[in-house]
Amino acid sequence: MSSENLTVSETSSPTPIQRPRRLRSSAAIRRMVRENHLTVDDLIYPMFVMEGEAQKVEILSMPGCFRYTLDLLLKEIAEIYALGINAIALFPVIPESRKDDLGTESYNPDGLVQRTVRAIKENVPEILVITDIALDPFTTHGHDGIIDEQGVILNDPTVEILVKMAISQAAAGSDMVAPSDMMDGRIGAIRQALDAEGYTDVRILAYSAKYASAYYGPFRDALDSAPKFGDKKTYQMDAANSREAIKEVALDIAEGADIVMVKPALAYLDIIRQVKDYTNLPVAAYNVSGEYAMIKAAAAQGWIDEKKLVLETLTSMKRAGADLILTYFAKEVALMLK
Ligand code: PBG
Repeated sequence: MSSENLTVSETSSPTPIQRPRRLRSSAAIRRMVRENHLTVDDLIYPMFVMEGEAQKVEILSMPGCFRYTLDLLLKEIAEIYALGINAIALFPVIPESRKDDLGTESYNPDGLVQRTVRAIKENVPEILVITDIALDPFTTHGHDGIIDEQGVILNDPTVEILVKMAISQAAAGSDMVAPSDMMDGRIGAIRQALDAEGYTDVRILAYSAKYASAYYGPFRDALDSAPKFGDKKTYQMDAANSREAIKEVALDIAEGADIVMVKPALAYLDIIRQVKDYTNLPVAAYNVSGEYAMIKAAAAQGWIDEKKLVLETLTSMKRAGADLILTYFAKEVALMLK
């Protein structure tokens, strides 16, 4: 007789009733057995800088997020640093007049990013400044790479420009460069060039598994950087793939990445977990603009409890394996966790 056919009373040693609820019955016991914790140390705050003075413009599709002129950005950075936020990821709004087909403004030593980094390092030297490496804010066509007459994104010529951009950011004092462009071979090329120029301590946060995603819409509004033609599917990853994410992560690690990233986060929690199981490097997740906008929009309608949903969402990323989270909610969360 197989054991499945026995009733409890017929077995010689009945299994005691398992009561998992014992470990949920009070706040104190729940705290004791909690497996994952979200702390302000995990957070990286993406911030937008624009030209001008004394202005702060809210981004329509990202309520609570602003484009700041440098003077006001410095104030805001001092404030968030005081709240315990250790790191920011900087994105520039480049005036149309400074854009061209090759994105040459990206490596101007006196460009907006370079000036901003120098000013932050003078004013709040301890905060980690992470600078984005990609051409889209700087190109007239809005793609992350340079294009030929047929509109094909050219890999190796783009990498040459990305390398110049990385060197100019390092020279300005960037603590960490973050290539978000998804060109092949850029991590290795940037690492070699940084080392050759003496920037051996500048870290690389690689956007390793970056998907071609509709979740980036609000960010492209923030920077006016939406592609003018086509989409980004020839360089960013197909949402249907997971083994390919590991291939990209493996390459970036071999090429010298210090931290690897999965982006977006919420629809890609499985990828975060797979990357975490694959590598012992820190894993970052980018809680992107569309994820932010969805929560803000539902909260504005009164349909969800924003604070609870933000904590639950970011905790799910920690549980999936993220060590670091880039999130527009960073300031809000820092205030909540205080
Ligand atoms: C550009 C870049 C994008 C984001 C970060 N860097 C947009 C894109 O790839 O089109 C998206 C961030 C967000 O949506 O919050 N290389």
